[in-house]
Amino acid sequence: MEPYWNTFWGNPSSSQNRSGIKAAALVSLAREQLASTLKIPAESVIFTSGATEANNLALIGYARALADIKGKRGHVITLTTEHHSVLDPLRQLKLEGFRVSELNPGKDGLIDIRAVNEAFEDDTFLLSIMLANNEIGVIQPIQELSNLCHSKGAILHSDIVQAYGHMRLDLYSLGIDFATISAHKMYGPKGIGALIMKSKLPIMPLQWGGGQEKGLRPGSLPVPLIAGFAKAAQLAIGDLDMREQRLMFLRDKLLEGLRNKLPELIVNGSMKRRLAHNLNITIPGIKGNRLHRLLRLRVLCSSGSACANGMPSHVLLSLGRTLDEASSSLRLSLGRNTSEEDINRAILLISKTVSEIKYI
Ligand SMILES: Cc1ncc(COP(=O)(O)O)c(C=O)c1O
Repeated sequence: MEPYWNTFWGNPSSSQNRSGIKAAALVSLAREQLASTLKIPAESVIFTSGATEANNLALIGYARALADIKGKRGHVITLTTEHHSVLDPLRQLKLEGFRVSELNPGKDGLIDIRAVNEAFEDDTFLLSIMLANNEIGVIQPIQELSNLCHSKGAILHSDIVQAYGHMRLDLYSLGIDFATISAHKMYGPKGIGALIMKSKLPIMPLQWGGGQEKGLRPGSLPVPLIAGFAKAAQLAIGDLDMREQRLMFLRDKLLEGLRNKLPELIVNGSMKRRLAHNLNITIPGIKGNRLHRLLRLRVLCSSGSACANGMPSHVLLSLGRTLDEASSSLRLSLGRNTSEEDINRAILLISKTVSEIKYI
């Protein structure tokens, strides 16, 4: 990223000068590099400021465009465990006259295909279901969902932010029509993401201006962030298999160690269909605010999503956890730099903190 902050600072939309041409060439290369990691054509990549914007653009932009063509507002299906950047735009669509069904997944966080099938209505035009959940890491049966969706004449949007760079993906063979990605979930910079869209799908922009990104996301492109995004994607795909194998081993060791010390703990979400680096547990019977206040100084973890402003996790509540259980939950994410020593320390510190709280 560094040369594009300091030396080659041209605007890729300024095609009349050399520095603009150089910046445009870098953006074009980055677009191709990103596309090749997902096995899609480069023209499918629409850069945005992140996943929140890409989710808004896909859901609102597609729904409004289709309503314009058909002259009526139809029905959308999603899950209660989606990220707020999917749930909130869909709630906005509700205010505009669309109908939205939010389905509850099973206790393991996975949606039953039959429940989705039953939720389809004559005018269901869109299904939005994330590939991997950001809090509990469960991996939804996306291919089956896309088959179902297409057989009903609807399309599938999937927020794949948490899966991209963490599992092997072939977007089009999964049958995803709109996908959302973000750089900072794969060690890239914050402030850059993309909407991946199949050509020929109708979509309306949510803002207007200089016509960049096919007019869907006008505004000067942040070249250094785009360079960082493409590099992060290449690095993440490059060490994906080894990294995830190592992290699954460490994650399982973490769970085993915690279970030995805290046999009462509950695992949130399926362990079978789950991202390798994610663990989410509830420690019943203790006050969540105490747990998190003490742990804050010892282990970097949270009870839910960073986008939930400290509120009890809507994902855990959807799985049937009580408010108290949701707040005494720990979302533990392992990463490229996590070592075996970190895991041993985390087991020790978490179990020590829980016993301190029990005996206070
Ligand atoms: C599943 C999911 N979707 C969307 C987002 C929002 O991403 P961004 O920060 O790029 O807007 C996040 C990140 O918190 C996420 O985990």
